[in-house]
Amino acid sequence: MTKATTEAATDTTTGTATGSVTGGAGLSARGVRVAYPRGAGEIVALAPLTLEVPAGQFVCVVGPSGCGKTTFLRCVAGLLRPGAGRVELDGRPVAAPPAGMAVVFQEYARSLYPWKTVRANVELPLRAAGTRRAARRALVDGALAAVGLADRADAHPWQLSGGMQQRVAIARAIVTRPRVLVMDEPFAAVDAQTREELEDLLRRLWAELGMTVLFVTHDIDEAIYLGERVVVLGVAPRSLRADVAIGLGPVRDQLTTRADLRFSSYRARLHRLVREARDPVADQDR
Ligand SMILES: Nc1ncnc2c1ncn2[C@@H]1O[C@H](COP(=O)(O)OP(=O)(O)OP(=O)(O)O)[C@@H](O)[C@H]1O
Ligand SMILES: [Mg+2]
Repeated sequence: MTKATTEAATDTTTGTATGSVTGGAGLSARGVRVAYPRGAGEIVALAPLTLEVPAGQFVCVVGPSGCGKTTFLRCVAGLLRPGAGRVELDGRPVAAPPAGMAVVFQEYARSLYPWKTVRANVELPLRAAGTRRAARRALVDGALAAVGLADRADAHPWQLSGGMQQRVAIARAIVTRPRVLVMDEPFAAVDAQTREELEDLLRRLWAELGMTVLFVTHDIDEAIYLGERVVVLGVAPRSLRADVAIGLGPVRDQLTTRADLRFSSYRARLHRLVREARDPVADQDR
């Protein structure tokens, strides 16, 4: 404890998480094209996609299965290099996983290390960044408190419910105070009640941390509830089809927001847009 306290006193800068709110980063994707090899040819997964996200905006991405949502997120996260076009974070090209960005995928069960405690899982990105021990402890405590798991730091992931495991994954994502949070259907595998709790948790963290959020979901209601803006990707061509500003204000509530007449109107409009964004040939085959 004495050692940790000493480290805290001397650990003024780690180059990463400082506990302060840094605000979001602007994201820019221009003319992004991705083709995967298939047989002797290739399958075009994005062709081409342009999207500008201002710093601090919460953007949801919807679109039919296979339209390239995950492919796009992988480009944004620097995990996949597009064949053409460019992705920039605050004006700097993204060529590898950028500092200041955190990614959460759907399969929390596979993303957590079962042999490590909750605390050890959450502190992984801080260790990777070389954050010293006392600072790590304070940041992990803060992140676990933010997701309501302050008392489960010493548990193992397999001792937690699915929703709690996903909260651990969110804590691990926010522990570095990211400027951009990228999420690919993160709540798809949890029950409806837990999903609502996680949605509200995410909105609260977004407001508190001021980060930019790019959130992919299949659920149009979820996209409207969470986002300030919903973009629709399509098939044939696999690019941006629609861009809808969600004027539901900064304060959202599961009961009143979803009962709002404007909510129903966004829902009807986005359902139609997503249906139109499907591949007409594939639709004929159904
Ligand atoms: N590693 C890969 N190799 C070859 N083709 C791929 C690969 N990953 C994705 N694809 C293809 O690229 C297209 C876009 O896939 P992607 O996973 O980005 O879609 P998606 O919109 O995320 O779909 P879903 O909503 O089902 O998650 C699909 O036709 C898919 O089969
Ligand atoms: Mg996907």
